Amino acid sequence: MLYGLIRPWLFGFDPHRAQAVAMAALRMRNAFARDALAPYLDAGAEATGSVGAGAVGSAGAGAAGAAGPAGPAGIQLMGLRFPNRVGLAAGFDKNGYDVDPLGRLGFGFIEVGTVTPRPQAGNPRPNLFRLVPDEALINRLGFNNEGAAAIAQRLESRRYAGVLGVNIGKNFDTPLEKSVDDYASCLRTVYGVADYVTINVSSPNTPGLRGLQDPGALRPLLLELVNLREQLQPVHSKRVPLLVKLSPDLTDEHVASVSRELRELPVDGIVATNTTISRPQPLKSAAATETGGLSGRPLHSRSVTVLRSLRAAMGADFPIIGVGGIVSAELGAATRKAGADLLQLYTGLIYQGPALIREVLDELTGMLTTH
Ligand SMILES: Cc1cc2nc3c(=O)[nH]c(=O)nc-3n(C[C@H](O)[C@H](O)[C@H](O)COP(=O)(O)O)c2cc1C
Repeated sequence: MLYGLIRPWLFGFDPHRAQAVAMAALRMRNAFARDALAPYLDAGAEATGSVGAGAVGSAGAGAAGAAGPAGPAGIQLMGLRFPNRVGLAAGFDKNGYDVDPLGRLGFGFIEVGTVTPRPQAGNPRPNLFRLVPDEALINRLGFNNEGAAAIAQRLESRRYAGVLGVNIGKNFDTPLEKSVDDYASCLRTVYGVADYVTINVSSPNTPGLRGLQDPGALRPLLLELVNLREQLQPVHSKRVPLLVKLSPDLTDEHVASVSRELRELPVDGIVATNTTISRPQPLKSAAATETGGLSGRPLHSRSVTVLRSLRAAMGADFPIIGVGGIVSAELGAATRKAGADLLQLYTGLIYQGPALIREVLDELTGMLTTH
């Protein structure tokens, strides 16, 4: 409600400035806040899990099995306890400056990054466009970030009580055949501070990156990283789940080949999906012709189609985080019904404000009573 009032003012700034202004306000609130730093607790989690089974089962897939035991204390998944099912997607807090103020908004988990081994500036501005009538964004940021080491150090001092994911990638100027070294370097650097790590092979703004989803490239990359985890696990006395973030632009054959690889390796989950290079429907905004990854409402249908195929291919128990186009509570419920155990928001937050977190959680709880 309040966000609806200030949004026209915020949208008067360019998108980067608007986020800086909004985050400055959130940081101020964080500094003075006396309320607990804890995320919303999903009081309906236990029952939502069992309803999810019914709802998802009737759609030909299953998500709730993967969610494990849950209840007022949260959702157990991948050996982690998620306070609730709604998280912040990668890219919003690339450098990990704002985990605490963002956590205070109620997110059950926050994914920082994408981080690369070396700091890099990303693509020149303008590189982020609002498509207001379409409730969408197009970005070609290109992994601007301060580098894994600085970010990992910053994350050590967080107070946020939810789950922290770190999303890792490669520097734009690392030759593709050396990509594995970049991901391994990032994993080593962030392992100690991360609750889970997402291997990002799907951003459209780093040339060649999405080719790492091809079987010939994905298998060696994942093998190296799961082997590295074996080494890091005893050093840090924890097993950090590894997830793979996939593109909504995968063909059916691609989904089949990626699923085959993921079933054969000890990878812990999927994040589906990243932004799309397609322009799925007639878009109203002039900025629709900009190059980059499209997110928001027009992405939802494509994202859910890929998610549903992945759920069918991976079976009921494989953890999947659903992200893409959740700009309303109803679309959040649709992503959950398509087989997502957990949900992430990005573009919806820009258009609807933080109230969307609670609205989606309430809608998930509402699935209890209506099914
Ligand atoms: C401005 C912007 C920057 C993003 N940066 C990243 C990133 O660094 N790494 C990543 O894995 N995804 C990134 N994403 C993709 C989001 O995490 C998410 O997968 C995508 O936007 C779809 O969700 P949405 O429709 O709710 O925004 C970015 C998205 C946006 C809009």
